[in-house]
Parts: sequence; structure tokens; C-alpha cells
Amino acid sequence: MNALEPDQLIAEAKRQTGAAADAAALADAKARFLGRDGEITRRLKSLSKLPADQRSAAGQALNSVKRAIEDVVRNREHEIEAAQLDARLAEEAIDVTLPGRGLAAGGLHPITLTLERIERIFRSIGFDVADGPEIEEDFFNFTALNTPENHPARSMHDTFYVDAGDEGRRGLLLRTHTSPMQIRYARMHEPPIRVIAPGKTYRVDSDATHSPMFHQVEGLWVEEGISLTDLKSVYADFIHRFFEREDIDLRFRPSYFPFTEPSAEIDMRFADGPLAGRWLEVSGSGQVHPNVIRNIGLDPERYVGFAFGSGVERLAMLRYGIGDLRLFFDNDLRFLRQFER
Ligand code: PHE
Repeated sequence: MNALEPDQLIAEAKRQTGAAADAAALADAKARFLGRDGEITRRLKSLSKLPADQRSAAGQALNSVKRAIEDVVRNREHEIEAAQLDARLAEEAIDVTLPGRGLAAGGLHPITLTLERIERIFRSIGFDVADGPEIEEDFFNFTALNTPENHPARSMHDTFYVDAGDEGRRGLLLRTHTSPMQIRYARMHEPPIRVIAPGKTYRVDSDATHSPMFHQVEGLWVEEGISLTDLKSVYADFIHRFFEREDIDLRFRPSYFPFTEPSAEIDMRFADGPLAGRWLEVSGSGQVHPNVIRNIGLDPERYVGFAFGSGVERLAMLRYGIGDLRLFFDNDLRFLRQFER
């Protein structure tokens, strides 16, 4: 290169940078001209060997060659950047003219549909709908519901305890029923209280009719001067509307819950169809225990309460004729699609 005239040197720089396909190759080419051992640098150094009266003109000429080569390099740099951007745009291009893949509308889960149905019916007869925490305090799940620490009924409600560090002092657990909402809601509202509280509940249980997670709907009615007849008529009304049939009998079968006295299981019986004639348990119920009325902060001499806690899966199974509870939670689309509306 040392024999090249200035014009030829610039042309050679154009040729070499033009051949560089990427930034690294361009840096190499640039170094051959402008680097520490590059041609221009070498020529600048050799200026000192020229006679003094020629140095200035030769230096100026050399500097203008240097600037020209710097321009050449910069132009090539821009070209390479532009080419890379084009390549990326081409690679990541979205063809907006392609038809869409389409989104299925999806459908609601049968349990969600059932919950919505239950809420709609109770709302229409003047009940509020409330929501409570699934991670519950031991106090609301048991103690306030007349089920103190060593009460044997606690063993019927084996559940999942939450290890929550300092929070653990409050005894956190996955609620075993929606009944804690009786206390939470009634403490925040004045009688007359009419509320349902649907939601998820948890127990250590798993077979065709029990799932570790299931749904209940709690009902609470607290007012002066109401009686079991009122609970019966409201629940019967609910059942007839839920199943959209009149041919259903109800019976209240004596039972035991720590937080109600007297207590009853509510059984129902269809007159027709595949399940005709069999009593089917759908709910626990009872008159709210005086201790619970007191825990709410009310006077049990004055206020009467009725409560029920119904199994939502059970109601859904009866309504849709489903034999195995686990179908609800297998997420098999062939099952779930049958409920699409
Ligand atoms: N919480 C009870 C259960 O889960 C059901 C129930 C609710 C009973 C309200 C009486 C009153 O078994």
C-alpha cells in the first residue's frame, strides 16, 4: 500500500471497507488504515524525514486523505447498521394480512354456573351475598363457632394448616367450612341479617364423593321472632327453584353441629327420575347456638338465628346427573364442554 497515490489509497479504503460484511470486519479494515500500525499513521510518522519546507504541504495533504478515509469508514458503518436492521425487520416481520388463529370463547365451569345460580336465587329472595377468606383464622373456623381447642368435632374437620411465620400465632388454616362467615358477616352488620356466603372449603378427604377442595354455600338469617318454619320455607323455595321442579320433598333429620342447637341435616327426595324415592343429603342446618349469637355480639334472648351449609358439588351433581365428584376437577374438556352455554 505504501506506493499508492492519495486517490488510490482512498479507493483502496473504499474497496476494503466495502468488502467488510460486519462490524468486526470493518474494524479490522479501519485499523489497516487508521490504526496505530496503519498506513496513514505510518505515513504521518515518516513526514519528519521530509525536508522542512515540504512537511507542511505534505502533512495537510495527508490529513485530508485521513479525513476522507474516516468518512469512508463511517459511511460503511451506517450501511452495515442499516443492513442489519433490515435483516432483523425481515426476520421478525408479522404478516398482518394473515387470517387470525381465532380464540375459542370458552365456557364457565359447571361449579361456577351452579354458584351463580344459587346466588341469583337467594338474591331474589332478599339475601345478601358475601365473600370470605379461604385462609382462615382458627378462631373464626372453630373457636367462635362454639368449637373450642379440645372439642372432638375438630377431628371431623381435619384440614391443612398454614405455616405463616409470625402470622402462625393466629393459627391460620384452610377453612373447613363456610361457617366462619357467620361470625365475620354478623359482626359487621345489624340484624335483620340475611346472607349467603358461597366459596371454597378444604378438608383432608379424597374419594368419589369427597375432594380436598370443595364448595359450600353458607346461609345465615338472624332476626327477632323467626322460627324453624321460616328456614324450612326459604330452603324449600330455594330447592324448588334450583332444580326447577316442584316434585321434591324435603326432610329435616336431627343431627349435631357444635354451633347449632337443635341441628338437622336437610335431605331431599325426587318423586320422579333415576333418583326417585331416595333421600339425598344436601345440607347441614340448625338454629344458631346461643354461644355463637353471643360471639357475634348479640343477645340470644332477643335474637334468633338460623343457618345452613350446603354442598355445592352435591347440588350440581344432582342437578346435572353427575355420578363422580372428581369429574369436576379433572379438567377433561369432553366433560366441561357439555356445560357451555
Ligand atoms: N358447617 C357445617 C359443615 O360443614 C354445615 C352447617 C352449616 C351446619 C350451618 C349447620 C349450620 O358440615
